[in-house]
Amino acid sequence: MSTVASGLTTTKAAFIEQAQQDGQLYIDQPYDLYSDENQETWRCLYDRILPKWEQFANARFMHGLEVLHLKRDAIPKLDDINRFLAPLSGFKAKAVSGYVPAFLFFDCLRQRSFPTTITIRDGQALDYLPEPDIFHDVAGHVPMHTDRVFSDVLVRFGEVARFAAERAAGVAGGDAEHIRCLENNIKAMARFFWFTVEFGLIREKDGLKAYGSGLLSSLGELEHSLTSPAVQRYPIQMEWVVNQYFEIDHYQPLLFIVDSFDHLFSQVDKLETWLKDGKLDHVSPGEPAVNPADLESFLEA
Ligand SMILES: [Fe+2]
Repeated sequence: MSTVASGLTTTKAAFIEQAQQDGQLYIDQPYDLYSDENQETWRCLYDRILPKWEQFANARFMHGLEVLHLKRDAIPKLDDINRFLAPLSGFKAKAVSGYVPAFLFFDCLRQRSFPTTITIRDGQALDYLPEPDIFHDVAGHVPMHTDRVFSDVLVRFGEVARFAAERAAGVAGGDAEHIRCLENNIKAMARFFWFTVEFGLIREKDGLKAYGSGLLSSLGELEHSLTSPAVQRYPIQMEWVVNQYFEIDHYQPLLFIVDSFDHLFSQVDKLETWLKDGKLDHVSPGEPAVNPADLESFLEA
């Protein structure tokens, strides 16, 4: 397989395969490897979703697009983005070669780094996403990181993850009940992250808007999430969120609303209190399953 021919297309990039084989998780963005087709895919994704953003994205996201100079013309360079982002929130997008185990991911957030996929989906299958790509990570997540309060939410969430790891410390390789509690903690945190950072809605002056990046990077689901009568939309409730399973292979039937990012921040505080109190040790079973690499990452923290 030629590197040039495959460019940096998701699941087909020789550069990424090599980095993974070499055990390199954190990498540079090899910008010259993007093929013309990769660049065309970015323009196409951007052009078709822009009118939906104007209608359904929250105000901070739209502001973020502007201040980061995110444009349709070309796949963004992470170095450029980081230059604009640094003075706003101290966050930076950090290129990774693939899946980042849960604790490492959350701990990066605590340190104001966002593990960022640099490949882009196949131009022949714009709506099919086998895994995150740069459009989801940079166009979906990063504009939100320009907001001070929202970025503090991510840092605070990373602190909660660290607390969960510390709480589990000393039981590594130890008794099964403690490991089961940690698995429940991870499940609860994953659910909270899913229903907020990935699929959250916010109440604004002119109605509900999306702030979750899973919505903001999906042409079809963004509109569906806010207009379909079939979607259940409720004010966020911790007791519901941490016990609610979710499935990733279809549009979300249930979404939760925050009143502001300060409100969201207060919910992360609450998540930590619940963790300390042991309320997250026995959450409802079901998705997401906690994979061994995620569990290991917490035990090794
Ligand atoms: Fe995401």
